[in-house]
Amino acid sequence: MAKNTKKKAATGKRSGSSAAMLLLVLMCMAGLVMGVYLIANGGGNNKNHYYNITMEVGQSRTLVTTFAGDFTCAVSDDALLSVDETHLMTALAPGDVVVIAEGAAGDRETFYIQIVGGTGTSATTTSSDATTTTTTSSETTTTTTTVSLGPGSVTGIELTFYAVSLKVGENKMPIVTMSPADATDKSEQWTSSDESVATVNWLGDITAVGPGVCIVRVTSVNNPSVYAEVTVTVLDETPSAPAANVEVINGVTYVQGILIVNKTYALPADYDPGVNPEAKAAFDRMQVAASAEMMSLSIVSGYRSYATQEATYNRHVVASGQEKADTFSARPGHSEHQTGLAFDINYAGDSFGSTPEAAWLAANCWKYGFIIRYPQGKSDITGYKYEPWHIRYLGEENAKKVYDSGLTLEEYLGITSQYAE
Ligand code: DAL
Ligand code: ZN
Repeated sequence: MAKNTKKKAATGKRSGSSAAMLLLVLMCMAGLVMGVYLIANGGGNNKNHYYNITMEVGQSRTLVTTFAGDFTCAVSDDALLSVDETHLMTALAPGDVVVIAEGAAGDRETFYIQIVGGTGTSATTTSSDATTTTTTSSETTTTTTTVSLGPGSVTGIELTFYAVSLKVGENKMPIVTMSPADATDKSEQWTSSDESVATVNWLGDITAVGPGVCIVRVTSVNNPSVYAEVTVTVLDETPSAPAANVEVINGVTYVQGILIVNKTYALPADYDPGVNPEAKAAFDRMQVAASAEMMSLSIVSGYRSYATQEATYNRHVVASGQEKADTFSARPGHSEHQTGLAFDINYAGDSFGSTPEAAWLAANCWKYGFIIRYPQGKSDITGYKYEPWHIRYLGEENAKKVYDSGLTLEEYLGITSQYAE
């Protein structure tokens, strides 16, 4: 098995057909020319491709996917972006929007769209490699850009390692260097030859899933004939016996009977309980009590599935970089929101901390079974910055004990919150 391959590959086999790959390449180059940059990820079988697109307010463009047949679209905020039945997207207001296209087979392509203020006219191009056709109607402007590979193409990829041995649950990410240094588009596409052995996300973070050997490949989106590979060996080691007060039931960790999710302890991807009815009923009681004191509490984010968290986290990584994103957004599988026991109240932003509702919540939520999960000054312990809006339901007895202790949940239970890297 070649370890570091900078050789010609016959086809981009992830896309299933050379036409689809060509389309992908054209989309990439089109994005580049329009000030759009694109990062694509293949999780195998064309799943989970990610694209980053910038649009100006007033601009329209047709959403192009690699799906052979029809697909549906879900838009995170239709006040910012509209998508009609022909998949024509129109940018309505500045902001960040996520569009998830889903093909008939259930495969998804996720588009992170940053809308910036603009003139409402079509994007212009500056590359000599591009041909741009602009169609303007009374309401919308559509730009189609066709490009060909030319100077600036990627010719080589180097990695900081080409083989790695991991235990189940561990992860490691190689650093990628594409050459030449002045290549105009260094977008990466990551795939795993066997996702039952190891998965890789769009950033190239490799996670060991089960014993065996597989190949993780990074391919230049700009020039799919260029790729490099990591041989991943996942060791067949029986996990050491958990401490007496730690129980793992169906992949879910409980410490002293309390379900725990943090950077150390993850949930299975298919753990999808929905919002916890007991926690919701407790919130409802708290909301009534707060209202009697002229405090208005509402849930702005409750249960989030693994896939939703994945999209949320990835969007933050694109916007802020992974290191910063890891300080305020949980990686998929690591968010308490996936338990259905956590709620974000009123506004998930720093300014919430200076509202009367934040003070009321901090002083009273324990009475209803909640704790402020990521308190101020404890980010080294919890793994996250201060989130006055994020409450976690523990039940009244445990919430009171944790509140009275003045400790974070990690300190109270004697556990860590750190990613295994
Ligand atoms: N903001 C918290 C840490 C989450 O993403 O679950
Ligand atoms: Zn939250």
